[in-house]
This record gives sequence, C-alpha cells and structure tokens, in this order.
Amino acid sequence: METVFNSGLVAIGGFTVLFYFLKFSWKFWCGVRVYVLSEYWKTDLRKYGQWAVVTGATSGIGRAYADELAKRGLDILLISRSEEKLHTVAREIERLHGRKTRVIQADFTEGHAIYPAIAEGLHNLDIGILVNNVGMNYVGTLRFFLDVSSAEKRITDVINCNILSVTQMTRLVLPHMVEKGKGLIINVSSEAASHPQPLLTLYTATKIFVTYFSRCLNTEYSSQGVTVQCVAPFTVSTNMTQNMTVNAFVKSAPDYAYEALNTVGHSSHTSGCLSHALQHVALNIFFPGWLRLSPFCVRQMEKICNRRREHYDNIQEGELTIKKKQP
Ligand SMILES: NC(=O)c1ccc[n+]([C@@H]2O[C@H](COP(=O)([O-])OP(=O)(O)OC[C@H]3O[C@@H](n4cnc5c(N)ncnc54)[C@H](OP(=O)(O)O)[C@@H]3O)[C@@H](O)[C@H]2O)c1
Repeated sequence: METVFNSGLVAIGGFTVLFYFLKFSWKFWCGVRVYVLSEYWKTDLRKYGQWAVVTGATSGIGRAYADELAKRGLDILLISRSEEKLHTVAREIERLHGRKTRVIQADFTEGHAIYPAIAEGLHNLDIGILVNNVGMNYVGTLRFFLDVSSAEKRITDVINCNILSVTQMTRLVLPHMVEKGKGLIINVSSEAASHPQPLLTLYTATKIFVTYFSRCLNTEYSSQGVTVQCVAPFTVSTNMTQNMTVNAFVKSAPDYAYEALNTVGHSSHTSGCLSHALQHVALNIFFPGWLRLSPFCVRQMEKICNRRREHYDNIQEGELTIKKKQP
C-alpha cells in the first residue's frame, strides 16, 4: 500500500517537473524567437499596403515609428497637433528615405469632432498599417487622482487622447483592411498597464483598455487577414520621460521602434524589445500586483514623489532667479 502511495507521489512530482520544464522551455523559445531571431526574420511590412498612418508622429516613439516604416519602404501619413512640426518631420522623411508623405493636423484631446476631417484625409489611400501611438499622461509625475489642477478638463483630455483616438482611428481604417484581407494595426499601450498602478491611476486604466482592445480585436480579425499588435514599452527616452539618459534599461526611441517593428509577425502582444521584456519578467517577480496595491507601497511612492517635486521646484526657482539677474 505504502509503495503504491510513494509511486503515486513520485509520478505526480515527475509530471509537475516535466510540466514546468516544458512551460519554461516554450516561453524561453518564444522569447528568443520574438526578441532575438526576429532581427533575422523580419516581416516585409510593404505586403500590408502602400501607406502607414502614425498618430502622435512628430516626436518620441511615434516619430521613430514613422522614420522606421519609411525606411522599410512605406509612404507615411503623419497626424499630430502642430502643423509646423508635422511639415518639418514630413520633409525630413522625404529627404532621408525618399518616400511620399502626407500630414493631418488634429488635436486628439478634442474628442469626436476631429474624426470626419481625418476620415477625409485618409480617403482613397491604400492604408496597410496604422500605428495608434498618440498618448498622454494624467500628470507629469505620480499623483493622487484628485491632486491635479483643472481635473475636469485633464480627465477628458486623457480619455480622448488615449482611448477614443485608438478606437476611432481603428474604426476608420479597419473596413478597408478587412476588404483587402490584409492589414496591421499597432496599438501602443504601456508596461504600466501590466498591473494596476496607484498614483498613475487614470493613465494605467487607459492603457489596459488599449491592451484588452488590441488583444480582443486581434482574435476577431486575424482570420480575416488583419493583425492587431499591442506594444507595451517600459521606459523610452522621449519628451514624456523628460528625455532620460539612454542606458541598458531606457531605450532610445529609434532603437525601440526598430526592435518593436521586428516583432511584427512574431508576437501580437509584446514589450517591444529584449531589455523591456526582461524588465517585465523581473518586475512581475519582485514587484507583483499585490505589493503595488499595498498602502505601505503607495505611501513610499508618495514620499519619493514629493521629494522629486520639491527638487524640481527648487531647480525651477533657481532658473527663475538666474533669469531675473540677467540684464
Ligand atoms: N516614453 C515612454 O517611456 C513610454 C512608455 C510606455 C508607453 N508610452 C506610450 O507611447 C506613446 C508615445 O509616447 P512618447 O513618449 O513618444 O510621447 P511624446 O514624446 O510626448 O510624443 C507624443 C507625440 O504625440 C503628439 N501629441 C501629443 N498630444 C497630442 C494631441 N493631443 N493630439 C495630437 N497629437 C498629440 C506629440 O506631438 P505634438 O506635440 O506636435 O502634437 C508627439 O508627436 C504614448 O501612447 C505613451 O503613453 C511611452
């Protein structure tokens, strides 16, 4: 009896070890394929169509995507707020990559009103790729939900820019893609959305919307030839992150866009690059969701934030004093 019991335990133990071994081997292989081998097995992005549309295309990640897509042979339609910046970037893309460009000036915080004009701008173009990149943070730093000036306007702006833009732009381009039986929509979410993050409440909530929207839409339309990829970056050096110094953890926008575009065809939900994927794994282990949501952790983050705010206030005061002293 005892021997049968022992053999049963050994069998269960053996199956458990085998299960985890196969699971981790599979995950490891997927990671190698998506972030390492994809460099050598790039998808030809021209197969989706002639034009790529990029929102928030005049700086940061959006600008880098626009550049990289032009380099890979697509004509680029850029959408952003500032007409002057749009024309500068468009000229630069034409000069560097010899591709056609078009621009549409639109402020995504303005809500529904802007989409008829965008639809007109997209009319009759063979759009193969849409990059829903535009996005904004609730506040420049970590804050309690109500601790923000002009909260009423700010909340609407963030929702319009981060959620409405993604859904409405998708609604505009998807019918044409379905009709052609091919297309690629890249939605830029954020690593911040991988767990609920207090003090970044509205931002992370809008980004998890982007993640779920992309993953569900990919399932609905992949059988009709349309891929919807969700990209969730960690930290990329851009205006949004005060142009932080690039290092092993912080990517430059061009490097990020290059690596993230390599993952197309290999993964429909990706951190975009190896460094961010490894940080994602480490964060899941060492800073899990329950810890982020603990009152202790929120208090510590608040303290760090207050110290940083004082630091920036002191710098700004110092700059003002220097300016006043100048003749
Ligand atoms: N940087 C990061 O570390 C990071 C990490 C995770 C996720 N993300 C996500 O990546 C995306 C891009 O971020 P980023 O860091 O590249 O931002 P960024 O440097 O601030 O660039 C934002 C771009 O969007 C445009 N834009 C901003 N507000 C707009 C509006 N209301 N209407 C139209 N265009 C607008 C800006 O151009 P104009 O000012 O000329 O309009 C600019 O081209 C966002 O969705 C962000 O949430 C970034």
